[in-house]
Amino acid sequence: METYILARALHVIGVVLWIGGVAMVTTVLLPATRRFKSPQERVQFFEQVEQRFAWQARGTTLLTGITGFYMLHLIDGWARYQSAAYWWIHAMTVVWAIFTLVLFVLEPLFLHKLFLRKAQENPERTFRVIQTMHWVLLTISLIAVFGAVAGSHGWVFS
Ligand code: HEM
Repeated sequence: METYILARALHVIGVVLWIGGVAMVTTVLLPATRRFKSPQERVQFFEQVEQRFAWQARGTTLLTGITGFYMLHLIDGWARYQSAAYWWIHAMTVVWAIFTLVLFVLEPLFLHKLFLRKAQENPERTFRVIQTMHWVLLTISLIAVFGAVAGSHGWVFS
């Protein structure tokens, strides 16, 4: 039981650092890049900060995923994936899978290069697309947090 509580505490630390960082990038950093006059400066500033955050996000995604699956293993809770009332377990897993795919596969493979090329061609549009994508990811992450806290503390969704 104590192991479960420890895993849950570490899970939430991972979530706070990770989703908190996504919120910061979405609501503060991206809007702040509009102040730069030249597209080059804008791209450079965004790149430097986001690249640092990308490493934090990779570490915290790993921590959250490991502790999350470990908790399911401890309580043998895999059957939750078959129940609609546990939609928040699906939501957490989907959010985690999207970020894992982007941070560990798509970004290193081609997203980073694509961003640099598109930002040169049309910085306005590229930043608008990036901003929208961040808002979408932040929104589904917050829905997952809401469902996970409410669901694991007794709110039965049925
Ligand atoms: C591999 C992906 C994940 C798995 C397998 C997973 C699994 C779990 C499990 C088993 C619990 C405990 C539920 C209970 O005690 O009834 C939990 C709690 C929680 N998870 Fe996840 N999770 C994952 C990813 C995420 C993500 C991406 C987020 C945030 C967007 C998140 C946020 C939370 C929160 C906020 C809690 C509630 C803690 C509390 O109030 O006690 N999890 N998760």
